[in-house]
Amino acid sequence: MEFSIKSGSPEKQRSACVVVGVYESRKLTLAAELLDKAADGYIAGIVRRGDMEGKSGSTLLLQNVPGTLCERVLLVGLGKEKDFREKEFTTAIRNTVKTLNETGAFDASIFLTELAVKKRSVGWRIRQATMVALDATYKFDQFKSKKDETRRHLRKLMLSVERRNELHDAEQALQQGIAIGQGMSLARDLGNLPANICHPSHLAEKAQAMADEFKLECKILDQAEMETLGMHSLLSVAKGSAQAPKLICLTYQGGKTSEKPIVLVGKGVTFDTGGISLKPGADMDEMKFDMCGAASVIGTLHSVARMGLPINLTVIVPAVENMPGSQATRPGDIVTSMSGQTIEILNTDAEGRLILCDALTYAERFEPDTVIDVATLTGACVVALGNIATGLFSNKDSLARDLLDAGTEANDRAWHMPLWDDYQELLKSSFADMGNIGGRWGGAITAACFLSRFTKKFEWAHLDIAGTAWTGKEASGRPVPLLTYYLLQRAGMLN
Ligand code: BES
Ligand code: MN
Ligand code: ZN
Repeated sequence: MEFSIKSGSPEKQRSACVVVGVYESRKLTLAAELLDKAADGYIAGIVRRGDMEGKSGSTLLLQNVPGTLCERVLLVGLGKEKDFREKEFTTAIRNTVKTLNETGAFDASIFLTELAVKKRSVGWRIRQATMVALDATYKFDQFKSKKDETRRHLRKLMLSVERRNELHDAEQALQQGIAIGQGMSLARDLGNLPANICHPSHLAEKAQAMADEFKLECKILDQAEMETLGMHSLLSVAKGSAQAPKLICLTYQGGKTSEKPIVLVGKGVTFDTGGISLKPGADMDEMKFDMCGAASVIGTLHSVARMGLPINLTVIVPAVENMPGSQATRPGDIVTSMSGQTIEILNTDAEGRLILCDALTYAERFEPDTVIDVATLTGACVVALGNIATGLFSNKDSLARDLLDAGTEANDRAWHMPLWDDYQELLKSSFADMGNIGGRWGGAITAACFLSRFTKKFEWAHLDIAGTAWTGKEASGRPVPLLTYYLLQRAGMLN
């Protein structure tokens, strides 16, 4: 998809389709009025006769509207004007793009980006519209031998701003929206790939290719190197699999060399059978998504590198496959983590924390400013928050606040969960420093408590994306928007 920004009048657009909004009930937006004036009351007539009431979700496609230069006009219902907020705005853009995709229009001029959204800047509107448009047109059909045969595809979108002095901010926001959209698309592609293709070595190759494209530093540790470092917790998860484990490290230097980096760590379990603590069969195919944390941090790095943000960012991905082979770790086995702390593995299905703890200890050597890990860590988090909010835990309240704010801005929200010491005792083990599970209740919290024992040396946050990384059977690209907005904010580049 190609995008551009313009400020101009709707009746003078030569594009294949001009898109304007109508509020409920039957109130034309400014752009719709301008069109209507040029068309001698043609649109007001349609609205008066009840063919477009302005209800949210409704659309009406018109051909050859008199007095205009375009082939089509798409009227989009916006709901009540006083209720028109973030969600209504993104819904209107999503409906628009989906509808346009089903017409023969090759390009379109969208005037909905001129609409006021309370407390939101023109930059926010353009960025969100771009992200939503890219998200709504995403397709993953590389394994279909017959592709979708739509004759003509929507290829160009012009997003309109009301005033010329908004063009500069809008242009910057457009570039950011494209970068975030591409990061999400990369994360979704990696997530959607089946586990027989997307194994740890595949992730390593993709990371290397991205490093080549953006001139990043890329270091990939193999099993022998991880053994030398004492990462026996991470390695214990890979033991039942024929796939070699990898620890992938990518470094982007956009800031001063002296500046401490922000480190993102992503859980990269390319398939989670549960290991010897085998999962039940129903929906087990979805465990190919257990590397969506990894996909999201790689996607975020892609966005950041594309924008060339003035920050230092390191991405660490522990990549393994959790299988029940004859060499697999058994329940009750005890391992020593890289930190020196010993772990009794009471359930081999609680494997995410076992690979993350060693990756987090490894993060220390980058002398990080902040560390954020992202993981499809617990089913309990899905029970708590459903598919709407990502679970957020942190050992630093100001960091938690910044991430919550970024999620709200990005329309990719998280919810702050407790990390109180009271929960720590649930991780007691009779034989080792800790067990890897905390009993029946509060599973998302005890998982975070486990990780907190490996993050004492830096400011850290943990995002449990078990409920948000995919919906139905498709990867969502979350939380690339949240993470990228956080980094944009830190770089002082959000307008
Ligand atoms: N990858 C799963 C978590 C998961 C489950 C994500 C379902 C999304 C949907 C994780 O490795 C896991 O199996 N966690 C266990 C932990 C338990 C054994 C303490 C879980 O949540 O059941
Ligand atoms: Mn598991
Ligand atoms: Zn898992």
